[in-house]
Amino acid sequence: MARITVDVDGMSYTHDVEPRTLLVHHLRETLGKTGTVVGCDTSNCGACTVLVDGESIKSCSVLAVQADGAEIETVEGLAAADGTMHPVQQAFHEHHGLQCGYCTPGMLMRSVCFVRENPDPSEDEVREGLKGNMCRCTGYQGIVSAVMAYSQAAGEQEAGR
Ligand code: FES
Ligand code: FES
Repeated sequence: MARITVDVDGMSYTHDVEPRTLLVHHLRETLGKTGTVVGCDTSNCGACTVLVDGESIKSCSVLAVQADGAEIETVEGLAAADGTMHPVQQAFHEHHGLQCGYCTPGMLMRSVCFVRENPDPSEDEVREGLKGNMCRCTGYQGIVSAVMAYSQAAGEQEAGR
């Protein structure tokens, strides 16, 4: 067992974990953060995407021990405590980017990271930026529109408008 401490959505958690435990399983099974989901378990789908020290990573592809000391952001930390949606959630809602419960959490987290990296993207850049996240059933146009709208909203917020 190895003792690790992670900060998840602003709360600190210390636990003993087996060295083979994947981060996604630590989040879901030990910390109860079930908003982060397992779609494929083979690092293909992006459903398990969380931000670790600001970088979007597929949490099924790293060990929990590798995240020791990290700050982790999950989909559960996006909305405000009173339930007000985060701007990325608002944009997905308004532009029909919401998909199933499997792909949506990862899409949202990857979108947050992507817009931080590229605040004024083109549609092609959005498609490129989200290529690691799959939706197998509905298509991506709503998602791309949502991320474009979110980047504009985030830019306006940044500019204090
Ligand atoms: S569950 Fe991690 S990429 Fe699919
Ligand atoms: S895989 Fe989630 S809506 Fe298609």
